[in-house]
Amino acid sequence: MPLVEPKSHVMKIVPYIAGEAKIPGFDSPVKLSSNESPLGASPAAIRAYADQAGKLELYPDGAAVELRQVLAQAHGLNIEQVVCGTGSEQLIDCVCRAYVSPGDEVIFTEYAFVCYLISTMAAGGVPVRVPEKNLTADVDAILDRVSPRTKVVFLANPNNPTGTWIPRAELHRLRRDLPEHVLLVVDAAYAEYCDQDEYSFGEELVEAEDGNTVVLHTFSKIFGLASLRVGWARAPREVAMALHRVRGVFNVSTAGQVAAIAALSDTAHTRAARDHNDKWLPWLDGQLRELGLDVTPSIGNFLLMHFDEAAKCQSADAFLRGRGLILRPVANYGLPRSLRLSVGLDEDNRAVVSALAEWLDSNR
Ligand SMILES: Cc1ncc(COP(=O)(O)O)c(C=O)c1O
Repeated sequence: MPLVEPKSHVMKIVPYIAGEAKIPGFDSPVKLSSNESPLGASPAAIRAYADQAGKLELYPDGAAVELRQVLAQAHGLNIEQVVCGTGSEQLIDCVCRAYVSPGDEVIFTEYAFVCYLISTMAAGGVPVRVPEKNLTADVDAILDRVSPRTKVVFLANPNNPTGTWIPRAELHRLRRDLPEHVLLVVDAAYAEYCDQDEYSFGEELVEAEDGNTVVLHTFSKIFGLASLRVGWARAPREVAMALHRVRGVFNVSTAGQVAAIAALSDTAHTRAARDHNDKWLPWLDGQLRELGLDVTPSIGNFLLMHFDEAAKCQSADAFLRGRGLILRPVANYGLPRSLRLSVGLDEDNRAVVSALAEWLDSNR
């Protein structure tokens, strides 16, 4: 029997490559490949997760009312402006399902998080990739590519995998100069790590009743709940209503909902995760530069280092793996000379630096 053909644009999608977790021969390698929190989840979240283990037969609250109420209250929003997702990645997909028709254009930058491309293509949209300047989003270049067919602009601030960002004034200029028919989606996956005076993820652009700006958040990064898949969107009410219609009906598990609520209440744990990053991100940046590596300044919980040639990058990556250290090659982002390193525990950070020093000694 001939196989039923999927939609033609679906088969053009290059499947997502996740950060690796295993190295043959190592029982517990150090995973610095997915920007997870080295301090793990809050003990309160772990308890909340464990406490619902006896009720696995029950469906979750499909509307995630309590979690949405807690989020709304914490952020001064109306509950109708909050939509929860199976990770923020699902919400990226919901935006495309709700707004992008075949042939509509979706703009994102050259080294943008790859899920924007996947979800655009799945919806039959036309991806429009805009050049960056110094691995940083360029607002003028984005505005230049807007057309009557543009439906959505995705912008992560800061971006993954580069760690670079645009200041508040530039974000506001982008919104101001985008036509009304364009939905601006700011991905704030790493916002909790950022406290630069000029930084904003655009919460002030999300208006209560109307407006065309959405901000996406995740519990996978500073809150350390990546395995539970919880994200949320703050959106104008009308946009939220559209996203609700296309999300999975029971999309966030009970475990995810209760753990996220507990994680939000454990502000001391979140602060500790932030303090850890504030200490180790500059340390790593400085140490790698001292070794002579080119490093892109990052405000996330990760940084991107660059080698002279792709072959050297691969060799360094292999050397690090030989020491049980898994970083993230980003050749699939068009950056074959670069490796992304997530901030790890103290000893992991030190191990990466000394392994790289060793590799550089024999590969200058
Ligand atoms: C910029 C950005 N957005 C979204 C996500 C997806 O996060 P989630 O685990 O909430 O799906 C990631 C994960 O790495 C990310 O880097």
